[in-house]
Amino acid sequence: MLLITGLRQILTFKGPNSPRTGSLMNNIGLIDNGAILIEDDKIIDIGKEKEILKNPKFRKAKHINIKGVALPGFVDSHTHSVFTHPRLKDFSMRICGKTYEDIKKAGGGIVSSINSIRKTGLIELEKDLVEKADKFLKYGTTTIEVKSGYGLNFESEVKILKAVKNASKKTSLKMIPTFLGAHTIPPEFVGNSKKYLHYLINEILPYISKNKLAVFSDIFCEKGYFTPEQSRFYLKKAKDSGLLPKIHAEQFSRFGGAAAGCFEGAVSIDHADYVNSSDMSLMKKTGAVAVLLPASNYFLGLKKYPPARQLIDAGVPVALATDFNPGTSPCWNMQFVLSLACTQMKMTPEEALCGATINGACALKLQDRVGSLEPGKQADIAIFDSRDYKEICYYFGANLNKMTIKKGKIVYKKL
Ligand code: NIG
Ligand code: FE
Repeated sequence: MLLITGLRQILTFKGPNSPRTGSLMNNIGLIDNGAILIEDDKIIDIGKEKEILKNPKFRKAKHINIKGVALPGFVDSHTHSVFTHPRLKDFSMRICGKTYEDIKKAGGGIVSSINSIRKTGLIELEKDLVEKADKFLKYGTTTIEVKSGYGLNFESEVKILKAVKNASKKTSLKMIPTFLGAHTIPPEFVGNSKKYLHYLINEILPYISKNKLAVFSDIFCEKGYFTPEQSRFYLKKAKDSGLLPKIHAEQFSRFGGAAAGCFEGAVSIDHADYVNSSDMSLMKKTGAVAVLLPASNYFLGLKKYPPARQLIDAGVPVALATDFNPGTSPCWNMQFVLSLACTQMKMTPEEALCGATINGACALKLQDRVGSLEPGKQADIAIFDSRDYKEICYYFGANLNKMTIKKGKIVYKKL
């Protein structure tokens, strides 16, 4: 048993286990001068310190007193964490004015990440992912989604997902696997996206489903990648294999991916930079979470950011994630994403924190277990070196996290 006291503020996000929308995104469930009582991996009591100290159970608990602000551990619902090399050539080209599309045409982009993955062994991928997991934990993230998508053939896509499975046993970070074989068309299938999709459906999906290597499936719906029609066809097949649909949609243009995703019951529509009002109504209707990834806009040097305000006003639940990947977002720090959400997308700190916790959990269908701090929920907690939670969104480029607790265990502590 563990008792944590000294918390100047606790943001509990107490409420229904469903995505928070509209003004409800501002309900942070604030407790001043709080304490949390944990038994095994779960919270058993949470409230004002003087109330918690009345609970006789606390006497048996190990006690830590830590000054700071406690939040639910961040739930980063969109990452491409299995990659081997940074894409420094793409980086330099972009600095010289080239766009994501120009870089792809010149042989960079997603395809340039596959050679090294294909050559790297499972053990090495696994080891690298465990090291990356430590970085997430250090910055206050306790759950991430991890996509495949840099293998793009049977052997390497399966290898990536096995690396996620194996690495999960060696880190405290919870990692939810997503199959993103439909990330782009690999060299072997250039000019024949239809044939590649059939290959994914007939050769890879059955194996992934049989071996339970992924929870979600995802597809990159964009000009030059996969069409909305192909996305629907593919997500339907993936659903038949038991994978829940997600979609990369409207990242660089309005192409129809959001609607395609909604028609297939996508759990989330990710990026959503170019969604319009009819897409937003559909998303509200189907309950799809908009997973916004402003660190990719920042890194690509784009002026336009996803329309968070319109999405919130339209009643669409908004989540925030890093999109950690070597091409568009080499960032694992959710605190930086919070800063971007507030400064560039005009989300309130309360909305941004909701997007990084409970709504992130909803984008992974984990809201029954994580994303809020309430009795019965998993004790996944990040404690920040601040007096006011708004500081977590205000200071940027730093790591304010000083302690991370995962399932009731201290997994990171600042020295
Ligand atoms: O989410 N848009 C597609 N996928 C990634 C980028 C992947 C890459 O460039 O390696 C994204 O931005
Ligand atoms: Fe992505």
